[in-house]
Amino acid sequence: MANLIVYFSHAGQNWVNGQVVTLEKGNTLRAAEIIRDTVGGELFEVRAKEPYPADYQALVARTKEEFEKGLRPELAAWPDGLEKYDLLFIGYPNWWNTMPGPMFTFLNRYDLAGKKLAPFCTNEGGSMGMGEREMSRLCRGAEVLPGIAVHGADIGTEKEQSRIAAWARSIAEGAPTGK
Ligand SMILES: Cc1cc2nc3c(=O)[nH]c(=O)nc-3n(C[C@H](O)[C@H](O)[C@H](O)COP(=O)(O)O)c2cc1C
Repeated sequence: MANLIVYFSHAGQNWVNGQVVTLEKGNTLRAAEIIRDTVGGELFEVRAKEPYPADYQALVARTKEEFEKGLRPELAAWPDGLEKYDLLFIGYPNWWNTMPGPMFTFLNRYDLAGKKLAPFCTNEGGSMGMGEREMSRLCRGAEVLPGIAVHGADIGTEKEQSRIAAWARSIAEGAPTGK
């Protein structure tokens, strides 16, 4: 079964353990890489055409407006040949208790009916937020498998890394373990 690992992730200033920290590599990308290294698959990064600012306050201002107005930013690139994938891992950071706007743009564009979607979400306490439910709503006819929520601040720990790997294996083997 061919996998595609679609993710959105924000490097730069971020909110981790109650403070602003600078991440060289985003937490969701790190989770995506663990999934790839465990079960294989291509990575595809969902990126807004107009990049998000690295500065935290500017990031909060822009994303708050996008969230409140339900804006769906244009993407910088689109993947080709989605038909060859049966299983899509879909990764996002919890932003404003849901997926970042660009992930909505991505999911709105494709007809993913008949595919299996495996959501993974890094967060600072809000778990998957509404993201999983939004995914089911947007992707009619797709099977949304039990996702995994990861505390972003713990992404560097062996415990979280093995939990993500075990979840990815269970998804790829067709017997998801859930959260
Ligand atoms: C604009 C913004 C909004 C956020 N909103 C939430 C939230 O509603 N709930 C939550 O648990 N975490 C929230 N977070 C924290 C992120 O989900 C968390 O730091 C995540 O691991 C970042 O992943 P990334 O490095 O891949 O972008 C927010 C972070 C940012 C920057």
